[in-house]
Amino acid sequence: MTHQTESDRVVVFDHPLIAHKLATIRNKDTGHRIFRAALSQIAGLMIYEVTRSLPTQTIDVHTPMVITQCTVLKGTITIVPVLRAGLGMIDGILEVMPEARVGHLGLARDEKTLEPHAYLNKLPVDLDAGPVLLVDPMLATGGSASAALTMLRQAGASDIRMICLVAAPEGIARLQADHPEVTIYAAALDEKLNEIGYIIPGLGDAGDRMYGTV
Ligand code: PRP
Ligand code: URA
Repeated sequence: MTHQTESDRVVVFDHPLIAHKLATIRNKDTGHRIFRAALSQIAGLMIYEVTRSLPTQTIDVHTPMVITQCTVLKGTITIVPVLRAGLGMIDGILEVMPEARVGHLGLARDEKTLEPHAYLNKLPVDLDAGPVLLVDPMLATGGSASAALTMLRQAGASDIRMICLVAAPEGIARLQADHPEVTIYAAALDEKLNEIGYIIPGLGDAGDRMYGTV
């Protein structure tokens, strides 16, 4: 899968199939059923590239013929969706990595202050047992993702990647300032935020569009 590296810590995908599905998601006339399906499919496509840098180890495997050395993933992977919209990305990821654990963080952005409010924190106790993939389709001001990353750090996570669908430059800058060690993977880097904190061109409110609560 080709991708374009903006910097070591930001990977923006440049792939025709992802772009095609993103066009469906951005379209205001796409209903929640198709929106959810496309979001999950894009997450499944992105995960192949996101996992390229995961730690591995060598083990002995008995084939029917001989003992050979094989490469396997090291540690237990945990996927952490930010509710609600992050939930739309985990099925596509779990299809490729069914053995991954799923932790949940609930964050809601205050529509006036744009500050995130945390309402759920359900994470495995041994979060440092392997890599953690934080997933949320929208990186707007970056307030929610930054708060989520802080919660993951406080829970003991040490190796974290962030996967989003659409990122605004403001959100990337915020994460690079607050959590410079985290690599951000985005299907698209959009132009800007508008005056009420929505991504332009964006796709509107991801959670509402996913669940038909617009
Ligand atoms: C959306 C989105 C992110 C957040 C991004 O969630 O899914 O979590 O906004 O905005 P930020 O980068 O400015 O923090 P929202 O708070 O609307 O909750 P929802 O998923 O339940 O709709
Ligand atoms: N949250 C969304 O769901 N969409 C945006 O454009 C910004 C924040």
